[in-house]
Amino acid sequence: MTVWINGEPSEAGTVSVHDAGFVRGDGCFEALRSYGGRAFALTEHVQRLQWSAAALGMTLPVADDLEAWIATAARQAGDGIVRVIATRGGPDQTVAPPVVVVISEPLPARLDGLALLPIRAPWHSAGRPWELAGAKTLSYGPNVNASRVARERGFTDAVLVSDDDIVLEGPTFAIGWVIDGVVETPALDLLILDSITRRYVLDLVDEVIEGRFHLSRIASASEVFAMSTIKEVVAVVRLGELSFEPGPVTDRLAGDFRAGLIDAGYTVSSCE
Ligand SMILES: Cc1ncc(COP(=O)(O)O)c(C=O)c1O
Repeated sequence: MTVWINGEPSEAGTVSVHDAGFVRGDGCFEALRSYGGRAFALTEHVQRLQWSAAALGMTLPVADDLEAWIATAARQAGDGIVRVIATRGGPDQTVAPPVVVVISEPLPARLDGLALLPIRAPWHSAGRPWELAGAKTLSYGPNVNASRVARERGFTDAVLVSDDDIVLEGPTFAIGWVIDGVVETPALDLLILDSITRRYVLDLVDEVIEGRFHLSRIASASEVFAMSTIKEVVAVVRLGELSFEPGPVTDRLAGDFRAGLIDAGYTVSSCE
């Protein structure tokens, strides 16, 4: 693992304990996949980081600098993950400019066949207007806790639903399913994260319905899948009491996503 702070390599990787990013989760972040030393969807991730920062009233270094820092970390990561964490920098913005920490990490073990526990997420906007809705802020405690609760109950992870059981997203991934050959997925106007993987995957699909779906709708699905930078496209085999087989649409989307990477010149290792 290697760390850069504001573009400078930093072995110790320290951030002030007075930084509101540490004290109060005041900041934003991104996680990118590096394939063969090259960051995937670099522009999109930097744009989303800048957007999250703007929502928090933070001014980050220019996109060219951020992209260069991430590209350096991606070269180091090889087939790995690059995390970018932009913290407030001090107790408030009058004290210090934001601090941008970039970390290159190895890939986590690939999980396939996810078992998801639906968990109500009263902290989620679920479509209620809110200036930070859709921003990837550092305040991820509730999402992390949902994953933990799901794991304690024997599932791989959670899927978040609104108070009236409308399906939203996973704590760190988007979700979709297939009914009569058609892909359905929660709409962005539920103010879920505008997942970059979801954007690429939906481009691979002929017919998709983005909407507001009750959890009970998934009982009619033939397959369910999760999408994220780190997971790419992976099958969901259990959702609460329901069981699913990994199916042909999920397989095709996972394969086409990878094929798209190769077409775009990324070196994709087949042994992951
Ligand atoms: C809440 C949430 N939804 C979806 C995603 C997937 O987004 P992406 O495909 O951009 O990684 C993430 C990723 O961290 C997330 O935190």
